[in-house]
Amino acid sequence: MAFTVTPLSPAGAAEVVGLDCSRPLAADDLAKLHQAFLDYPILAIRDQDLTPQQQAAFGRQFGPLEAQDRSPYTHPDDRDILILSNEIRPDGTAVGIVDAGDFLHSDSSHLPEPCRITMLYAVRNPSRGGDTEFCNMYQAYETLPEATKRRIAGLHGVHHVSKTKNPRVVVSPDRPGAKDYYEARAKVVPEIAQPMVRTHPETGRQALYISPRFTIRVAELADDEGQPLLDELFKHMKDKRFQYRHKWRDKDLVMWDNRCLTHRATGGYGLPDIRRMHRTTICGDKPFYRPAA
Ligand code: SIN
Repeated sequence: MAFTVTPLSPAGAAEVVGLDCSRPLAADDLAKLHQAFLDYPILAIRDQDLTPQQQAAFGRQFGPLEAQDRSPYTHPDDRDILILSNEIRPDGTAVGIVDAGDFLHSDSSHLPEPCRITMLYAVRNPSRGGDTEFCNMYQAYETLPEATKRRIAGLHGVHHVSKTKNPRVVVSPDRPGAKDYYEARAKVVPEIAQPMVRTHPETGRQALYISPRFTIRVAELADDEGQPLLDELFKHMKDKRFQYRHKWRDKDLVMWDNRCLTHRATGGYGLPDIRRMHRTTICGDKPFYRPAA
């Protein structure tokens, strides 16, 4: 298949045109796409017509999909597809996750083996808003002062899924039952320590691996030292140079690399305007830090 890869942003995004993700890719196309993904960790693949089964099958070409079996928001046609949506049924229940990704994060960094890749398919875009903002964490790391790089080398961030444990975020009032959900998760889900600098296992590059959404403190530091350090790093991450804001087109399939990016859903829309995304995540491995030789 002849497809092109064209840069969209110096923050690591590119668009892919001419690829049909509804059919299995030939080995050379898969290899070309994989290399493009290492060069550009945000790939916007345009003009896809994908059923849930086809989207899941496309994802499986990159590795096993994360099971979504705990979630009530899976797609009935393929349980590995998670629905993100602001649609509310007449009985008050949500069709999908309403507040998914509303603060900057790397997907599932609160798990011991966070997912490697996320694929999000735009089923329905709102008439305005709904952009996804990405921060390139290679660039965030590389532009830190050398003294800060030395300070955080070998330190760990403590990550947790519950918003009620994290004063840097708020629980969305639009998601039915969200506060109860997060309070229950706070009681049963363990905290996970992740390296603050993550070595990408395929490119060998170092990336900052923290986020305002999931990183609640620094494991090795008392809060009077650790919290100001996190504040300084989160402020640094806001630098415009590292940001790419994806404005969704109909039929976009965007795949991104959670090992070297953070992202957030920026909102800016509301009912009766509907935003509906289908999401798959590819299993990953345990993050590590390997100091440069
Ligand atoms: C996510 O965080 O996985 C979802 C981002 C989005 O919906 O824009």
